[in-house]
Amino acid sequence: MFEEKWAARTKLVEENLLHELQSTATIDEKILQAMEYSLMSGGKRLRPILLMSAADAISNDGEKFIHVACALEMIHTYSLIHDDLPAMDNDDYRRGKLTNHKVFGDATAILAGDGLLTLAFEVMTRQEDVEPKVLLRVIREISTAAGVAGMVGGQSIDLQSEGKQINLMTLRKMHLGKTGALFLASIRAGAILAGASREKLSALTKYAENFGLAFQITDDILDVEGDEKSLGKPVGSDAKNGKSTYVSLMSLDEAKFFAEKTVGTAVDALNIFGSEADFLRELVKYLIGRSK
Ligand code: IPE
Ligand code: IPE
Ligand code: MG
Ligand code: MG
Ligand code: MG
Repeated sequence: MFEEKWAARTKLVEENLLHELQSTATIDEKILQAMEYSLMSGGKRLRPILLMSAADAISNDGEKFIHVACALEMIHTYSLIHDDLPAMDNDDYRRGKLTNHKVFGDATAILAGDGLLTLAFEVMTRQEDVEPKVLLRVIREISTAAGVAGMVGGQSIDLQSEGKQINLMTLRKMHLGKTGALFLASIRAGAILAGASREKLSALTKYAENFGLAFQITDDILDVEGDEKSLGKPVGSDAKNGKSTYVSLMSLDEAKFFAEKTVGTAVDALNIFGSEADFLRELVKYLIGRSK
């Protein structure tokens, strides 16, 4: 049931991402091609799936919010293209394929990222079936999360921490920004779009915070002991760049223990929900045991 739902949702997201791209006016085919290369190269599609699943937990009609869901995947993909650039993590593989800059060159990769980030905001305005006031609130949440208060801020801390010993508090702040913020926005956006009560929104927020943390701890662990083929990106990238990670600050075992504990907290946060939140429960458990 869990796997089937995930597969169906992934398919829906993929079809719509392509459709969103193809409905975009461009004065230059090459840049659109570079955007499509990364956007359509696979990936777990977690952020859009989380948005729809959070909405499902409230009103069981998450698929309706496909445009905002796709926009989140565009923001995420832009962040990956830029993250892989030589001036950032300098990685050659992503989602099992050469990174964007390896195929199109650094300058076009920068523009492909810019194009995807901007397109995301256009795509959000394509969302129907929602009050303009509610959509504005969601757009504000997503912009804040993607910007200096969230992902961009976290990436900046990440770069400044290279080759340094930082403390756990700074590491947590960095993770909450670079990875946590977009997960938080995905889940909260789904809940807000579906009209969640204050109590349910706050429970989903707690779930989301812990989801993001468990996810990035696992990402750090996989960078050490993952398999390049199934991950689709290089292992050892963090050590190569002298990154501060949960694994560099704790032992591998401590990091795994902490990830497990964080998953427990995420699942507990959903106690006020019944079976309508089962998919979210399964998802967080599945993700710390993942190999990609
Ligand atoms: C990787 O994210 C980058 C981080 C935020 C840690 P994902 O693991 O969700 O990447 P894809 O989308 O599946 O490729
Ligand atoms: C990057 O974190 C997170 C963002 C792209 C915002 P990482 O640098 O750890 O991601 P991977 O491991 O390259 O996917
Ligand atoms: Mg990075
Ligand atoms: Mg990286
Ligand atoms: Mg990583």
